Amino acid sequence: METIFSGIQPSGIPTIGNYIGAMKQFIELQNSYNCYFCIVDEHAITVPQDPLKLRQQTRGLAALYLAVGLDPEKATIFIQSEVSAHAEAAWIIQCNTTIGELERMTQFKDKSQKNGRTGVSAGLLTYPPLMVGDIVLYNANLVPVGDDQKQHLELTRDFVERFNKRYGQANQEILVLPEVKIAEQGGRVMSLQDPTSKMSKSDSNAKGFISMLEEPNIIRKKIKSAVTDSTGIIEYDPENKPGISNLLNIFSASTGRPVDELVEAYAGKGYGDFKSDLAEAVVDLLTPIQERYHALLASDELDDILDKGAEQARLVANKTLQRMKNAIGLGRKPRKRT
Ligand code: AMP
Ligand code: TRP
Repeated sequence: METIFSGIQPSGIPTIGNYIGAMKQFIELQNSYNCYFCIVDEHAITVPQDPLKLRQQTRGLAALYLAVGLDPEKATIFIQSEVSAHAEAAWIIQCNTTIGELERMTQFKDKSQKNGRTGVSAGLLTYPPLMVGDIVLYNANLVPVGDDQKQHLELTRDFVERFNKRYGQANQEILVLPEVKIAEQGGRVMSLQDPTSKMSKSDSNAKGFISMLEEPNIIRKKIKSAVTDSTGIIEYDPENKPGISNLLNIFSASTGRPVDELVEAYAGKGYGDFKSDLAEAVVDLLTPIQERYHALLASDELDDILDKGAEQARLVANKTLQRMKNAIGLGRKPRKRT
C-alpha cells in the first residue's frame, strides 16, 4: 500500500477552501492508502500566534479532521510538535537547501513583501524545509494539497533527488520521492469578495471566506454578498467570470453535482436563486460536521486518538531520521545490539 502525508496549519479556523482543496481529498484517499494527517502547529508559528488560541485551534483542527470523516482506524492523526523528529529533520534539510531556493518561493515573496523582509521571522523563509521534513519522514509517495502548495512540492522533489544523489550508496535510496496530488476540481477556491485571489482563513476581510464553523445565517449572508458580475448569466468561465465560476465550483464540491449539470439546471435563472440554493447546500454540508465537532471537542476520545497517533508517527519518523543521520554522518555509528 502506498503512503500519503498531508497537513493543515492550525493558524485559524479552516475555511471551505481547506475542506474542498484538502480535507475532502483526505477522506476519499484514506481507504486506499496508508495515511498520515498532521496538524502542523510548528508551521503556524512562522507568523505570530497567541499561545492560548494556538492550543485551542490545534485541538480544534484535530476535532475537525475527525468530524469531516477521517477515521483513526485507517489514518494516523497527530500533532506535528508532539513528534520531535520534524524539527530535527528540518535542520538537516535546511543545511542541504540554498537560501536562493527558499527566496524563490512565491509564498515567502508575498508574505515578506507585505510585511517587509526585516520584519518577518527567519522561520518564514525556512518553512519549506520543515514541510519537506514532514513529507519525507513518513516515506510518503503522494501528497494531497491545494494548488498553492505545488511549488513547495517541487522543492521537496528537488531536495529528495539531491539528498539521495549526494548521500545515497549506489542504487540505495535514502528518501522516497513524493508526487503531488491536487484536487481535480476545487484545488483553488477563491475569495468571495475578490474572486481573483485565494480564499484564506487569515483574510482581514471576513466576508471573503466561509469558515467551517460558521453559523448558518452568516453563511447565507456571506454567499448573498459574494462578488459576481453584471451579466446575470450562470456559466462556467473562470477567466472572464471568476466570481460565478468560483461559486459553481463550491456548489459542485459541496453537493457532488458536476458543474455542467448545475449550469444546465440554472439556465435562465438569476444569481439570487442560485446563491440561495448554494447557501443551503453549504449549510447542509457543514451542519452535521459542526455537530460532530462540538461533541468531539468535549470528549476524551479526541486526546486518546491524538496520543496514539503521535506514538505511531514517532515510530516511523524516528526510523527515517536515523537513516538521514547515518547517511550524512551525524553522531556515532549505531552499535550492533548483542
Ligand atoms: P493551510 O490553511 O495553508 O494550512 O492549507 C492547508 C491545505 O488547504 C493545503 O493543502 C492548501 O493547499 C489547502 N487550501 C488552503 N486554502 C485553499 C483554497 N482557497 N482552495 C483550495 N485549497 C486550499
Ligand atoms: N504548508 C502547507 C500549507 O500552508 C501545510 C503543510 C505543512 C503541508 N506540511 C505539509 C501540506 C506537508 C502537505 C504536506 O498549506
